[in-house]
Amino acid sequence: MATALITGGTSGIGAAFARALAARGDDLVLVARNVDRLSETAAGLAARYGVQVETIGADLANRDDTVRVARRLALRHAQGIERPVDILVNNAGFGIPVSLLAEDTTPHEVGFDVMIRAVLMLGAAAGRTMRERGSGSIVNVSSTAGFVTMGNYSAIKAWVTSYTEGLANELAGTGVTATALCPGWVRTEFHQRAEIGVSKIPDFLWLDPDDLVAGCLADVAGGRVISIPSRRYQLLIGAARHLPRPALRAISRRLSSGRH
Ligand SMILES: NC(=O)c1ccc[n+]([C@@H]2O[C@H](COP(=O)([O-])OP(=O)(O)OC[C@H]3O[C@@H](n4cnc5c(N)ncnc54)[C@H](OP(=O)(O)O)[C@@H]3O)[C@@H](O)[C@H]2O)c1
Repeated sequence: MATALITGGTSGIGAAFARALAARGDDLVLVARNVDRLSETAAGLAARYGVQVETIGADLANRDDTVRVARRLALRHAQGIERPVDILVNNAGFGIPVSLLAEDTTPHEVGFDVMIRAVLMLGAAAGRTMRERGSGSIVNVSSTAGFVTMGNYSAIKAWVTSYTEGLANELAGTGVTATALCPGWVRTEFHQRAEIGVSKIPDFLWLDPDDLVAGCLADVAGGRVISIPSRRYQLLIGAARHLPRPALRAISRRLSSGRH
């Protein structure tokens, strides 16, 4: 039995990780901003699966809050903690359908804080303690958007994938794995929260969060560094990676048109 810390574990993909890991008997530490929703989610999971669920109310856009979460990841058995973290899922994130020319660049900066700075800080804290123990898994939720060029969100997710590959290299041979999960479109609160229109996205491109997570956990068990669950997206991304950059940019331009 392991313990998993999941950022953004109250909704969408993070909540699907929480269900899947609790179903196999893992204890959980859930992190998010909305503390009422955290308590409700934790109580539901504990009742349904009989596992221990801790919660940490934290805004990962805030550095001090992120340091608090990193401290939980750094706790070891030797410090009297019953449940050191064996699995980190760096999942919290959001869409940024904001022009790169916007006068107010705050949404972009918050994106860096939550989807880059927090991922780096939590990955470092988890990686150090897991390496010492000789086991553990780090999953960073990236996106297939990182393989195209749809503004700052794509740039951030390209960083997450590249960072994860670097982390996997640093951890090679230590017993600790690092995996970048690159989902396509997944039915969650993500698009509604960012006010991204989805009416034009064909049905076959939508993924179910529970199926996505099952695919990712199989890839983690297999030691894969880049996880792209579903044959559809493996084929699409395989093709995109071989396109000349101007063609990729043209496709990205069409996909982003009308977003801001
Ligand atoms: N849905 C997709 O199509 C899709 C595709 C590719 C990749 N992704 C990636 O998947 C990850 C999860 O997204 P989702 O689709 O599951 O979205 P979601 O349903 O909107 O869930 C987002 C979760 O993150 C938490 N969160 C957001 N901002 C936070 C902050 N500043 N500090 C702490 N927690 C925060 C939210 O809780 P609180 O609001 O309570 O903080 C919530 O639990 C993101 O990294 C996203 O980029 C999503």
